[in-house]
Amino acid sequence: MTELTSQEQATLDAIAAATSLDALEEQRVAALGKKGWVSLALKTLGQMSPDERKEAAPAIQAVRAKVADALDARKAALEAEALEAQLASETIDLTLPAPDMPKGSIHPVSQVMDELAEIFADLGFAVATGPEIEDDWHNFTALNMDENHPARAMHDTFYFPDAAPDGGQMLLRTHTSPVQIRSMKDQGAPIRLIAPGRVYRSDSDATHTPMFHQVEGLVVDKGIHLGHLKWTLETFFKAFFEREDIVLRLRPSYFPFTEPSVEVDVGYSNEGDRRVVGGHGDDDGHDWMELGGSGMVNRRVLEMAGVDPDEFQGFAFGLGIDRIAMLKYGMNDLRAFFDGDPRWLAHYGFSPYDQPTLSAGVGARP
Ligand code: DAH
Repeated sequence: MTELTSQEQATLDAIAAATSLDALEEQRVAALGKKGWVSLALKTLGQMSPDERKEAAPAIQAVRAKVADALDARKAALEAEALEAQLASETIDLTLPAPDMPKGSIHPVSQVMDELAEIFADLGFAVATGPEIEDDWHNFTALNMDENHPARAMHDTFYFPDAAPDGGQMLLRTHTSPVQIRSMKDQGAPIRLIAPGRVYRSDSDATHTPMFHQVEGLVVDKGIHLGHLKWTLETFFKAFFEREDIVLRLRPSYFPFTEPSVEVDVGYSNEGDRRVVGGHGDDDGHDWMELGGSGMVNRRVLEMAGVDPDEFQGFAFGLGIDRIAMLKYGMNDLRAFFDGDPRWLAHYGFSPYDQPTLSAGVGARP
């Protein structure tokens, strides 16, 4: 018993002196572990006479409880100390002065994407996204451009060296149209969405950059016809340019994924060095500017995306976001959009407070 008492005192001292959780664990194993001295003492009870045991058992149990309590208490103290030390080392000095002027601005492309989403949300369109690294099945084949289709060559595609999981090629998507396929495969019909995002083509001059932005539109439902397409585009452009005298011209065209296909032009006039939309493009001083492509979704595309073309029809469109941003906010060189020049951004950027809303307007100026 005296031996037990001295061992107890030594252990309690060591626990009190422990400065790390590891040191504490050592003490726990030495006392309460399988071969620890407390466990060994408990084992001796088996060889004792009942009378001896009656006396010794509560004493050993008391030692065990004391050691266990001391371990718990010291562990809690060490953890609290560690937390205090961590909190002390991670303080933030809130007395630093705030900058005089808020820095940064919303890029016109981001602002215009928000404007698009706001206007189309009001027409019941959801916003969909798809990967910028695509496979050639979604980017081309499912859009009715099989491997030998000449339209593939016109897309100036950036290809990756690695093969796609299906053995095809991986590429940077050349348009937002593959989101049509992904969305129809995921959600089926009816469907009503826009898909804004980055697209890539190996091309560069004042009006072309290797990365640019498009917004895709897709409506699939029963009985959809060209009239729905025309109304939707007109309604959108009136809301976007915030004027009623928008005149659109739909020109017959060809896209493999639509039939019939139309190109969409808007009438504009020159005011100084700025193009201002509105009015009839054939009037004096007016002209037409191409904004994008559209048409009735080709039956083969619906089929490849798993939609029954005898039950559902659809229209689609693809517009250049950078282009309509230039037209609305008066920039004349597309390349400056992506130069990151802070003077350009300060001039053409938007305040974060200018969230486009239908009530406050979708065309607030900085
Ligand atoms: N994807 C076409 C392009 O980038 C644009 C386009 C044309 C999209 C017609 C459409 C469409 O959805 O119906 O050149």
